[in-house]
Amino acid sequence: MKEEQALRKEAEQIVQTVEAAGPFRQQFHLMPPAGLMNDPNGLVQWQGVYHVFYQWMPFHTGHGSKWWGHAATRDWIHWKLLPPALAPVHDFEKNGCYSGSAVVHGDLLYLFYTGNVKDEHGNRTSYQCLAVSSDGVEFEKHGPVIYQPEGYTAHVRDPKVWFEAGQWWLVIGAQRRDLEGQVLLYRSLDLWEWEFLGPLAGKDVTLAASFGYMWECPDFFELGGSRVLLISPQGLEAEVYQYQNQYQSGIFTGEFSPETGTFSHGSFHEMDLGFEFYAPQTFLDDQGRRLLIGWMGVPDQQEQAHPTIADGWVHCLTVPRELTMQNGHLYQQPIEEYRQLRGEHASAVVAVDDKTVVWHSWKAAVAEVHLEVEEDKSWTVSWRRYFHISYDAGAQTLTFERPDLVTGDPVRRTGRVTGVRSIRFLFDRSSAEVFVNDGEYVSTSRLFPEQEEGELQFSAEKPAVFHVDAWELQSLQWS
Ligand code: FRU
Repeated sequence: MKEEQALRKEAEQIVQTVEAAGPFRQQFHLMPPAGLMNDPNGLVQWQGVYHVFYQWMPFHTGHGSKWWGHAATRDWIHWKLLPPALAPVHDFEKNGCYSGSAVVHGDLLYLFYTGNVKDEHGNRTSYQCLAVSSDGVEFEKHGPVIYQPEGYTAHVRDPKVWFEAGQWWLVIGAQRRDLEGQVLLYRSLDLWEWEFLGPLAGKDVTLAASFGYMWECPDFFELGGSRVLLISPQGLEAEVYQYQNQYQSGIFTGEFSPETGTFSHGSFHEMDLGFEFYAPQTFLDDQGRRLLIGWMGVPDQQEQAHPTIADGWVHCLTVPRELTMQNGHLYQQPIEEYRQLRGEHASAVVAVDDKTVVWHSWKAAVAEVHLEVEEDKSWTVSWRRYFHISYDAGAQTLTFERPDLVTGDPVRRTGRVTGVRSIRFLFDRSSAEVFVNDGEYVSTSRLFPEQEEGELQFSAEKPAVFHVDAWELQSLQWS
């Protein structure tokens, strides 16, 4: 193994040589300074500072021996890029410091992550590891605290830790030997010694049937009186209105008993209707908000066709979103702080009958757009002649269409949506996040349009009226 300092220097040099430019560089999303970004990791607020870590491959725009990149903010607008928190240098993590979480205990910040190891034959071993910091910048590694449990393959990873009922708890995503995805539960009194309690959810535990061959990136939290298990399962078959991406993310809602370590839950609900959303994680901030950030990517899904690879980087994170539970349904809304990014504002009433109407006065490509429309109308709204959102009021479906990243042919994602009253779009240079009915449904996608200007087009089957409000959005500030 290369010595840590040499490896860090090499990564720094790559960052300096990659010119952070290109038409698709984002303005208000976190992206890697160079290389590949995937899952958000270790989301935490500590001493007033929000820390966002992320899976990072500094050396090229593909996967491999991952690092933990690190950025921090007090207000979600002013950011500091910090030195990478974890680089894969030890034997127990030599093929990657994989995803995990952070907790604060006493005066220290604890990171839990998966040490990914492969031998010369490609055989994998996974260790759940601990690193501790007293300043939130440098982390001292203490190596594995959990080893591979009996009955599972080496696909055990992504520890999520929290405090509840007087002790520490940890869940990891797992694959049973017979290739069934599960989540495993552990507990500890001191964060160092962990007792394995068994599987928390999955086939033969809380489900009768198979539900994917691996569950990645679990999270387990209270929200509005319900218990939520968030997972990113792999291996679900595509259906007409769900599971249309290569892999998906979603939730089971139910009840957790800390006394018995058991969870009972209802059916799985996919969280996103778009093309790129995976591996989300949440945390509680000091205002009591449950905040979520996801990866705006999907593993193995047309990654090499992203045009940003020519500029030396690929992928980004979603905007932070506040979660709420309303009538048993998960809502996601961009955090309040993002309103500070709003600049120039315009509004219009757009009446559409049999022709497509272009809102000519709007040109900003980085924008927040709100639409209100009558609930019984079927319509299509297009952005930069590239991304088309269509509501079919009869079928109660919402469809998102963009060109296939490889062939250029139109491709769609369609979900069932019972009525659309309002839509809030967050458009960055190369993404769209769409929040329907105040966050009842969400769709997250990357966009790579040729047309640089923002342009909104409206069409409808029968006469319809759109009330439109739009703001140009400013960039995040980096230092
Ligand atoms: C999810 C994932 C995690 C793993 C990480 C590796 O995208 O596969 O399960 O820890 O990415 O980068």
